[in-house]
Amino acid sequence: MKKLSKISLAVATVAAVGALSTSALAEEAGQKIGLSMPTQSLERWNRDGSYLQEQFEAAGYEVELTYSDNEVDQQVNDIQNMISDGVNLLVVAAIDGEALNTVMDEAAEAGIPVIAYDRLIMHDGVSYYVSFDNYTVGTLQGQYVVDTLDLDNAGDATYNIEFTAGDPADNNATYFFNGAYDVLAPYIEAGTLVVPSGQTDFDTVATPAWDTQTAMERMQNILASYYADGTQLDVALCSNDSTALGVTQAIQSDYAGDNTVLITGQDGDEANLMNIVDGAQSMTVYKAVANEAVVTLDLAKAILNGDTIDESLIEASGWDFDCTFDTESYETSEGNACPSFLLTPDVVTADNMVEKLVDTGYYTQDEDGYLHPAA
Ligand code: BGC
Repeated sequence: MKKLSKISLAVATVAAVGALSTSALAEEAGQKIGLSMPTQSLERWNRDGSYLQEQFEAAGYEVELTYSDNEVDQQVNDIQNMISDGVNLLVVAAIDGEALNTVMDEAAEAGIPVIAYDRLIMHDGVSYYVSFDNYTVGTLQGQYVVDTLDLDNAGDATYNIEFTAGDPADNNATYFFNGAYDVLAPYIEAGTLVVPSGQTDFDTVATPAWDTQTAMERMQNILASYYADGTQLDVALCSNDSTALGVTQAIQSDYAGDNTVLITGQDGDEANLMNIVDGAQSMTVYKAVANEAVVTLDLAKAILNGDTIDESLIEASGWDFDCTFDTESYETSEGNACPSFLLTPDVVTADNMVEKLVDTGYYTQDEDGYLHPAA
């Protein structure tokens, strides 16, 4: 019950602080946090928004939460409004990591620290980055393919694979793709994995806005062009669940082959977990966004308290999940590394989903075996 215990702990802490003295809370009560999330149309951001809001409010902060409908101009506008409303700190999950320069300058001028949440913003005004290890997300997907098909012992067998990556405007998307591709490239070079469409570079396989429909249509075209003659598709390597959903729909409607296609994903979206239960998707890389919110809250508190921030925050916070402090991997501009707190992603399949997702309290399971995010 990791998530639930964190929240109840936060509530208990608030109660305890309140009982002892109101001064610490009062200090936080005067402080306002601006939370800018990209969209409600991609499932995970709804969870992020509500976890972040719960955590910050339970700790005594006032919260302004916006979703920007995947429109860059709206996100700029939303952040500008929060700056005028006098927020003390901004937490931003960018729609386009390269498109927030002006508003980041404005935040810097107003002396407002910015935490880039989950997706890095390419601006040196960003104080810290909180995310998961994005490259590892991709390597977990690639390694799952290697292990499941036992590619190291494939002998003369060959398997057909197609790639679907994420939004080029999202800095994470290349990390996911490169992580997966780096694991699979040796097998492609050896001829064990074959890409009938020949589409293997990020720009060609990318999916603007991580859109399900776009991913579906691209896979329908690939199936019509390269698989209509009965060629078997063995693997659809998808960077996340919203794209996996579209690819799965295309396979269900436009693929005549009789094998089960191995399909990867990321996030643990409800519809994808349903597909995993039904055998239509093979795995998802789960990232406990409730814990990402916990790290963000503790980091924000430390920033607002003027504490020194380094790996000691990890020990001082006593988190019961893995997180590393990384000062090298992510740069907001060339040579300018952004200090980052990176959580650890995990593989979820039909075999371990109860242990990883239900027993931990993140999801509940209904009588049909389907999972639903815990309220
Ligand atoms: C997140 C993924 C998510 C994708 C689309 C990425 O930045 O890290 O978890 O699947 O955006 O929402």
